[in-house]
Amino acid sequence: MTNKTAKLQLPDREDSIELPIYEPTLGNDVIDVRPLVKEGVFTYDPGFMATASCESKITFIDGAKGQLLYRGYSIDDLAKNADFMDVAYLLLNGELPDAKEKEEFISRINNHTMVHEQMLTFFNGFRRDAHPMAIMVGVIGALSSFYHDSLDITNPEHRDISGFRIIAKIPTIAAMCYRYSNGYPFVYPQNDMSYAENFLHMMFSMPSETSRPNKILVDAMDKIFILHADHEQNASTSTVRLAGSSGANPFACIAAGIACLWGPAHGGANEACLNMLEDIGSVDNIPEAIRRAKDKNDPFRLMGFGHRVYKNFDPRATVMRETCHEVLDELQIKDQPLFEVAMELEKIALEDPYFIEKKLYPNVDFYSGIVLTALGIPKNMFTVIFALARATGWVSQWEEMVAEKNQKIGRPRQLYTGPRERKINK
Ligand code: SDX
Repeated sequence: MTNKTAKLQLPDREDSIELPIYEPTLGNDVIDVRPLVKEGVFTYDPGFMATASCESKITFIDGAKGQLLYRGYSIDDLAKNADFMDVAYLLLNGELPDAKEKEEFISRINNHTMVHEQMLTFFNGFRRDAHPMAIMVGVIGALSSFYHDSLDITNPEHRDISGFRIIAKIPTIAAMCYRYSNGYPFVYPQNDMSYAENFLHMMFSMPSETSRPNKILVDAMDKIFILHADHEQNASTSTVRLAGSSGANPFACIAAGIACLWGPAHGGANEACLNMLEDIGSVDNIPEAIRRAKDKNDPFRLMGFGHRVYKNFDPRATVMRETCHEVLDELQIKDQPLFEVAMELEKIALEDPYFIEKKLYPNVDFYSGIVLTALGIPKNMFTVIFALARATGWVSQWEEMVAEKNQKIGRPRQLYTGPRERKINK
């Protein structure tokens, strides 16, 4: 904090209003506008384009530099030199684990990978063709009905075990969504496998076979989890924080985050992007797609392009593109039309004045759909995997908020332009 202040001069006021300015470790200074309430004015910022909703020590994004840091470590450093359990521990605890800490952390996760058998009957209530995100919202929210013994969020031990249960069970439930929609038997977790390997095992192994997931694909999945784990106060994380600010239990908060992530402007963009690439179909149709994306009267947008914060490039897209090449090479997937369309679309869009002027670059969702397709994962599971990875970030952010000593319920105000008070004409 500093003793810098901003002075706001309002019309018909003699004195200016002094507002404290706080300096961050990294990023923009923030002006504390709370004193405005007693001055009888509000700030106006739909979409929170210029609003810091909280103080956080977890993740930092520099949109101009294309930088993403988890507790100070860059995303490309972590993607190259850590695995998802390292990253999960880092986000939750603030430091990378040593060997003993990592072993204990994994052991605690493994104690919670199974779900209550009663949970299995939940699935039977859904249509087989239900969107897996609809199932995830319902089933994750329902987890709170199994843990009445640990829902007191003021109790650090309750918060701790709930966080582990969410992180440990979300891969199991995500895989169950896939199995259920395909009529396959559910597969129990195998705790001698890594987090990513276990997920692919629960997704694809068959009782009639004993194969284990391909290591290259496991590494790619682990990297996808790392890239999607957290991302400052994005829409779904802000949803989790707002839900948590009312004292709602963590399972309900994570279910709210999953619901928000589902939107095509947010986590649903990976599925929407693949649909778009399939609709474009070939490089010959790219110019028409670019034309439509620029047409103000056409709601079509290039899915996987643009970002509220990144105005240079999304460092996750860079890592994802490399992973894409590795997976396609490992699987000997040649002339993958979607990948060719994606590469050509990226090239053309990045040379187009409209995209350059509006600083629209590929984001994390642009290549993830191609990698996930190559891994054999259907489109309707893409956002489920995003939610699986982001659950660790959501739990970390929720824990940071709940542990905040003077945390208050989130309750934005408004600019009211509706009718003045009036009476019913009898
Ligand atoms: C994620 O916030 C996060 O951190 C999110 C995320 C995370 O990890 O949590 O990074 C994950 O959600 C990534 C984004 C995935 N969404 C998409 O790929 C969907 C396509 N992108 C757009 O919907 C859009 O770019 C957003 C929603 C991502 C960002 O929107 P903003 O910041 O509100 O910007 P905007 O919509 O006001 O766009 C600015 C201008 C507009 O033109 P003008 O009104 O100024 O003339 O750029 C245009 C938009 O029309 N524009 C696009 C475009 N994205 C923005 N034009 C064509 N294609 C696009 N994709």
